[in-house]
Order: sequence, then structure tokens, then C-alpha cells
Amino acid sequence: MANIQSLISLLADGEFHSGEEIGRQLGISRAAVWKQLQKLSEYKLVVESIKGKGYCLSQKVELLNQITILESMNDDVVAKLAALEVLFELDSTNDHALKRVSHDDLNCPYVCLAEVQKKGRGRRGRQWMSALGSGLCLSVAWEFGSGASALEGLSLAVGIAVVRALMSMGIDSAKLKWPNDILIDEKKLGGILLEMTDDPAGRCQVIIGVGVNVKADNDLTIDQPWIALSQLKPDVSRNRLVAAILDHLISLMQSYASTGFSPYREEWEAVDAYKGCLVKVIAGERVTSGVVEGVAANGALLLNVDGEQRSIYGGELSLRLHENT
Ligand code: BTN
Repeated sequence: MANIQSLISLLADGEFHSGEEIGRQLGISRAAVWKQLQKLSEYKLVVESIKGKGYCLSQKVELLNQITILESMNDDVVAKLAALEVLFELDSTNDHALKRVSHDDLNCPYVCLAEVQKKGRGRRGRQWMSALGSGLCLSVAWEFGSGASALEGLSLAVGIAVVRALMSMGIDSAKLKWPNDILIDEKKLGGILLEMTDDPAGRCQVIIGVGVNVKADNDLTIDQPWIALSQLKPDVSRNRLVAAILDHLISLMQSYASTGFSPYREEWEAVDAYKGCLVKVIAGERVTSGVVEGVAANGALLLNVDGEQRSIYGGELSLRLHENT
């Protein structure tokens, strides 16, 4: 893995590199270079070779870089972080973050990112994979002094942080779909998955997982129409996006513990993709139809069902527009 990672870092600039140079940089033989080049297809990277010039990737790749991310963030936010790790390949950044803070005893806020996520999790048991250079898989482990009840509405507030980050990068068309999908042009741009350690009564650690589609990836396993940021902003930088999300998310989390969701309610409703729409809330076999009236101060969805307002709480639910049966 160390070799393939070094090879990808070397070729990421999209320039030609001779076999000799690659071998020298990686400290391996020409035959071993050839073997490593063959492995690039496993990462969906296409290599071109020209006699006398060497090898290059068909497209340059902006790899995630810890130093670039930290340098792009606000200094006071960086000062709050216990650690920020950029990993090459992980099953799931949420799993990794949980392991780092619970088994390895790392302090919170702990942040990890993976260039490639092989067994990422989405809500409701879905998968969330991400191929090299195509997406953003980010997890933040945060410790709360009070129990799980303080976390009501947290995933909605995280959505606000992501929308603010996108706005700071000039993308102002992002909307939120309750409870935590990020949409652009009614298509899914990203999602949020919150998981917590099992001490709901006392101190608990929450793993905040954020996935964003940055470049189009044909293997995306999203069960609804999706969009990637590069379709709107072709030169979008993944490192800058991470920095913007962390700046907004960490600042928001610092006040969230004392305020809860209510201060973000109005802002959330202003970007609610489905406000005033007739929707279906699907919970297993049960389907409830109603018109979205907004969200409550605790983050519940307010649905008008036959003239009566009902509060719908998160969990294993999905929300669909009525016309998209
Ligand atoms: C969803 O919309 O279903 C939520 C998707 C959340 C995916 C992110 S990617 C980073 C983090 N690690 C995971 O395994 N899942 C979340």
C-alpha cells in the first residue's frame, strides 16, 4: 500500500514521470514499478504512457493534504482540534474516528478523512463508497458532557454548517432535505450520518460523518438522483472544501452544546428543499403523506396531515416528494 500511495502522490500532478524516476522515488525496481502501475486501475486511475517520456495520469488528481487543509482553516478553529488525520484508504471514516477516540484514547475534537472509502455507511443501512479523488469522506468525533437528549436536532445543525461552508465557496444553491440530505437542483450532493458511543445518559462521543460528492463517480451507490460539486464548479478544491466545512462545523459545535438546535431553526427552514411540498414519510411499511410546514425547535419535522400538524422524529425514515413515487 505504501508503494501505491507514493506512486499516486507522484503522478497526481498529471505530468509525465519516467519509469526510472518513479523507481528511484519509490525505491523499487523497474519491474516493481510496472506492477504498481497496473494496480492504478483498481483506483479507477487511467495511466498514459509515451515512449521516452514515461507515465502520466489521464487527469491530474487533487489529493487531500493535511497541511493544506490546516493552512486553509481559521487559526482559532485549528487551535481547538486535538488531531486531524488524512488516511489513504479506510473502510469507513466513522468507524476509524470511533476507534481512535474510544480505543486509542485520542482527545476530541478528532477529525479524520479518507482518500478512498471502501465500506462507508449511509443512513438506513445504505452504503457510502468513495473512489479516489472523487468525494469527501470526513468524520469528526466530538464529546458532549450531557446525554443523547442534547443531541436532538444535531444532524440538522450539521447540515447548516455544510450549507454555510458551500456558500463561503460561492455555491449558494444548496438546500437541505430533512433530516440530513444536502441537495442541489433537487439532486443529492451529500449526506450526514451521526453515530454515538453508548453512554446516552452521561458524557458521550458523537461521530459526525459527512459525505459530499465532489467529482462525478459512476460507481456511486446512491438510491436517488445525485449531483457532484464539480458539475457546478469544475475547479472546486477538495482541500478548501474540507477546510470550509471544518471551520463552520467546529464553530457551530462549540455553541451547539449550550443552545441546541433552536437558534438554527429559521436558517434551516430558509434552505428547506421541501417546505410547503406534499411529501411521503416512509418508515418501513408505514407511509404518511402530508405537507411540510417546517421543523420544530428540537429538529422534528412538522408535517400537516389532513389539517393536523404532526411532529415526525428522525431515525430510520425517508422522505420523498409525492410526485416521485
Ligand atoms: C446518507 O446520506 O445516507 C449519509 C451518508 C454519510 C456518509 C459519510 S462519508 C464519511 C462518514 N463515514 C461513513 O462511513 N459514513 C459517513
